[in-house]
Amino acid sequence: MKHTKFMTAAIGLAFVGAFAVNAQAADMPKFTIVNDTIPASLTGKPGDAANGRKVAIDRKKGNCLACHVMPIPEQQFHGHVGPDLHGVAKRYDEATLRMRVVDPKVLNEDTMMPSFFTTGQHRVTKKFEGKTILGAQEVEDVIAYLKTLM
Ligand code: HEC
Repeated sequence: MKHTKFMTAAIGLAFVGAFAVNAQAADMPKFTIVNDTIPASLTGKPGDAANGRKVAIDRKKGNCLACHVMPIPEQQFHGHVGPDLHGVAKRYDEATLRMRVVDPKVLNEDTMMPSFFTTGQHRVTKKFEGKTILGAQEVEDVIAYLKTLM
C-alpha cells in the first residue's frame, strides 16, 4: 500500500498522541550509538522478557501490536504497518534491536515507528516535552522479549 507523505505524518501523529499520555518523566535518555547500534544496556540490568511482552501489548506503553504481527495469539488485532516480528531475533542482534526500539529514526529518518526512548523528536504538546514513551527498564524488558523471538 502506498501512503502519501501527508498520510504518513497524520498517522504518525495520531500514534504519538496516544503514546504521549503515558509519557515517562523519570528516565532521561542516555545511550551511546556505535555503528547504528546501541551495544550497552540502558540500565545495566538484565531485561525481564515476561514484562517486555506485557509492555509490547499495552496500548499505552509499547503498543507494538498496532503495527506488527507478533506471536501473541491472545490478542486479536495485529497491525501490518511494520514487518512481522516472528523470528526477529534471528535477523538482528541485541545491540541492533536496542537501536530499533530506542530511536529507529537513526536508521530510517522517515520511519513511522516511534522513538521509544528519545525526547524532543516526536511532535508532542508542551507538557510532554522532555519525556520518553518508555522507561529505560521497559526498553530493556522489550529487548529481552524480542530476543526470545527466534
Ligand atoms: C506506528 C507503527 C509502529 C509501532 C507502534 C511500532 N513499530 Fe516497529 N516498525 C514499524 C515500521 C514501519 C518498521 C519498518 C522499519 C522502518 O520503518 O524503519 C518497524 C520495524 C521494527 C523492527 C525491525 C523489524 C525488521 O524485521 O526489520 C523491530 C524489531 C520493531 N519494529 C520493533 C518494535 C517494537 C518492539 C515496538 C513496540 C515497543 C514497535 N516496533 C512499535 C512501525 C511500528
